[in-house]
Amino acid sequence: MTKAIILSGGWGTRLRPLTCTIPKTLIPVVNKPVIERQILLLKSAGINEIILAVSVMSDILRNYFGNGEKLGLNIHYTDEENPLGTAGAIKLAEDFLKDDNFFMLNGDVILNFNFKEMIKAHEHYKGKGLIASKVLDDPSRYGVLIVNEEDNKILKFLEKSEYIPPNGKSIPMPINAGVYLLDPEIFQYIDPRKKVSIEREVFPILAREEKLYHYSIPGIWKDIGKPEELLEGNILLMNDLLKNQKEIKENLIDENLDIEGKTTIYPPVTIGENVVIRKNCKIGPNVIIGDNVYIGTNTEIKEALIYNEAYISENVKCEKTIIADSCLLRDGVQLIGNNNNLVILSSFVEVLDNVKLIAPSTSSLTVCHHDVVRLDVS
Ligand code: GDD
Ligand code: MG
Repeated sequence: MTKAIILSGGWGTRLRPLTCTIPKTLIPVVNKPVIERQILLLKSAGINEIILAVSVMSDILRNYFGNGEKLGLNIHYTDEENPLGTAGAIKLAEDFLKDDNFFMLNGDVILNFNFKEMIKAHEHYKGKGLIASKVLDDPSRYGVLIVNEEDNKILKFLEKSEYIPPNGKSIPMPINAGVYLLDPEIFQYIDPRKKVSIEREVFPILAREEKLYHYSIPGIWKDIGKPEELLEGNILLMNDLLKNQKEIKENLIDENLDIEGKTTIYPPVTIGENVVIRKNCKIGPNVIIGDNVYIGTNTEIKEALIYNEAYISENVKCEKTIIADSCLLRDGVQLIGNNNNLVILSSFVEVLDNVKLIAPSTSSLTVCHHDVVRLDVS
């Protein structure tokens, strides 16, 4: 029986300050944690035994998923006192995984494909590992696969920064999408109780031994490692969910939305439960709002993620912004990001009346949890 292990123990440093209060894999994408979406996909492929390899903020993950009963499957945990690396983490689960092929997933990628097809491909190739791949125009921040296009064998596995593009110019290449189907023989390549990286210390050897294949995954894919990727990933998934609805829809809006006249929604927009939007607002495009959010009169929001329990007052403007749980924006606040530089509020932040936070053109502007912002920043 195929089981799965999902890695959820990294620090998520590039997503700070969002990851100061929540593990990266519990960050919602279209209002559901990215890792929960993976678990539900695995379940729909008949995989009912899942182990979460946790470390950083493991209690929060354990409290959220418990034994998996609420999702209708069994969830187990391994716990590393300190992160043991991507291979060290799975070595801890060897006893649980040693009887059959198993899926291994990086818990921070958005995807939507049928895992059963990947099992079929693995049975066909008969390798020791099958790596999900995606061709990206700019592969520079990922593991890159040099493949034989005829039989899909991986000739070389080059982890981040090991791939040098020809003439220094990016060309489209298949990258490691962070989803693997592995034979238990893999455990022989991992030293116990040591920090080991599967990408740097195991896959390059298996590729040299000609035991690795790749599987080009259909559909969407996004790693949410950086804030702009988190925003892009949410928009990508929202469009994908809309495309796959039975009836044609422009937005994903809870039916009990309390919305006043003269407010306009510009699709695509997602709105969760118990949301109130007052009059003369402009919401969208590309806005995702969680549950229990209040938005006051004359407020304009586009390209933004607003998590649960936000209170947004009147005459507020948000663009290219991520607002974590329980933030309070007072009257006339402006949060304006640009291109890849966002304005990011961690949870429980309060921004006082008429304060303007404008992201610089070189980096995102971030505010730590529980901070009170009194002065403009630009
Ligand atoms: N349990 C545990 N222990 N989990 C870990 C550890 C660890 O020591 N280190 C990282 N993780 C988890 C992270 O929480 C994340 O879910 C996943 O492993 C991948 O780590 P990232 O830090 O997100 O790696 P990355 O995105 O820079 O690169 C990896 O993913 C790319 C695809 O998204 C590599 O596998 C690349 O080759 C790949 O292209
Ligand atoms: Mg990642």
